Amino acid sequence: MNVLLIGSGGREHALAWKIVQSPLLDKLYCAPGNAGIANLANCVELDVADHAAVLQFCKTHNVKLVVVGPEVPLVNGLVDDLEKAGIAAFGPSAKAAALEGSKTFTKQLCDRKNIPTAQYQDFNNAPKAKAYVRNHSMPVVIKADGLAAGKGVIIAQTVMEASNAIDDCFEGEFGDAGAEIIIEDFLSGEEASMFYLCDGGTALLLGTAQDHKRVGEGDTGPNTGGMGAYSPAPVVDAKIERQVMDEIILPTLEGMREMGAPFKGVLYAGLMIDGDGPKLIEYNVRFGDPECQVLMMRLEGDLLPLLMATIDASLTDQQVALNPDPALTVVMASNGYPGSYAKGTVISGADDLNGDNCQIFHAGTALQDGNLVAIGGRVLNITARGNSVGEAQARAYRMVDRIDWPEGFCRCDIGWRAIAREES
Ligand code: AMP
Ligand code: GLY
Repeated sequence: MNVLLIGSGGREHALAWKIVQSPLLDKLYCAPGNAGIANLANCVELDVADHAAVLQFCKTHNVKLVVVGPEVPLVNGLVDDLEKAGIAAFGPSAKAAALEGSKTFTKQLCDRKNIPTAQYQDFNNAPKAKAYVRNHSMPVVIKADGLAAGKGVIIAQTVMEASNAIDDCFEGEFGDAGAEIIIEDFLSGEEASMFYLCDGGTALLLGTAQDHKRVGEGDTGPNTGGMGAYSPAPVVDAKIERQVMDEIILPTLEGMREMGAPFKGVLYAGLMIDGDGPKLIEYNVRFGDPECQVLMMRLEGDLLPLLMATIDASLTDQQVALNPDPALTVVMASNGYPGSYAKGTVISGADDLNGDNCQIFHAGTALQDGNLVAIGGRVLNITARGNSVGEAQARAYRMVDRIDWPEGFCRCDIGWRAIAREES
């Protein structure tokens, strides 16, 4: 079977790496891909916002399955258009992608299905929102309703900070995403991310992970797309796993069916876990980046039948087998990220480091004049497995040390919470 993968990040490199191991694959195409993916797939220039062009490409190249990595083409209905044309596509419909595309949509579903989450109110103007926070305990969480590339969440410690965040949202800081906001109670506890393959009715846990969103050591500084991750998330035990399935995931799937928008694809639940059990912070409707890198590093067996069963609604016949060893990934980013950074800086030493327990997944890379160069903010994902998070971490940082890239940096403490747990 020929497969087209959409995206260009470390997430897509990890997916490509698993997909090419499948005996079911004939040829893998990727649009647009990156320098690492180019070693595995035929990278093609395709405007993925132009659905007719994607359909045409699939027809001329006999593509039988399209795997969509990022959220924007999902929210824009690429899967709907592919399905209408009879091409199997992995990912939710535009209607079902509202679970990520609109925080208000998700909160209303939580209300209807009694799904545990933070108390909230939604607002479409600043004066009412500000009046609400003046009477609210601090901290309080302000969120732009729509897609804001992971940046539309502000945790305000004071009424002044909350009011400024409200003004920022309504003055267009997050574009159209901030035309509506929600204000919710601050939840304390430990975070975890859980990833489920969903075929509309059945959900199959693919794995758990924990990412590091902040740019600085000790989880400080501005938010990023993610500076590293590890799997499994130690806070998720069998009881939490059952509660999340019964109280959060299955009611969500039922609610989506009731709305005529069955959810098919990967449901990524961001959760806060404390003594009262798990609460939903947010949904994403795709694999996490860099969480996908650690999940693929642990997934045993063939990924393609799992993706196909998700589309065919036959997940009840499937099982997920994960390597019990933890995996950890360290993101190397261009100096300056998540702010502005230089493009075209040369990276050396990143070839030939891969082995049984270690893989480098590329994100913003390209080949220019025979050199590997950085063309994005997040650039490499140095990924390793070990018999503990500590061992995986040591292995990953040994690889980092062999990479020569003066214009790049990484956090030196990825996995610190899990390692402290292992050592206690
Ligand atoms: P989100 O984009 O909704 O995942 O939010 C980004 C991050 O903000 C989350 O991973 C949490 O660390 C934090 N966050 C979001 N909502 C809350 C909340 N209600 N209470 C505490 N932290 C939150
Ligand atoms: N790493 C966070 C995300 O993929 O949304």
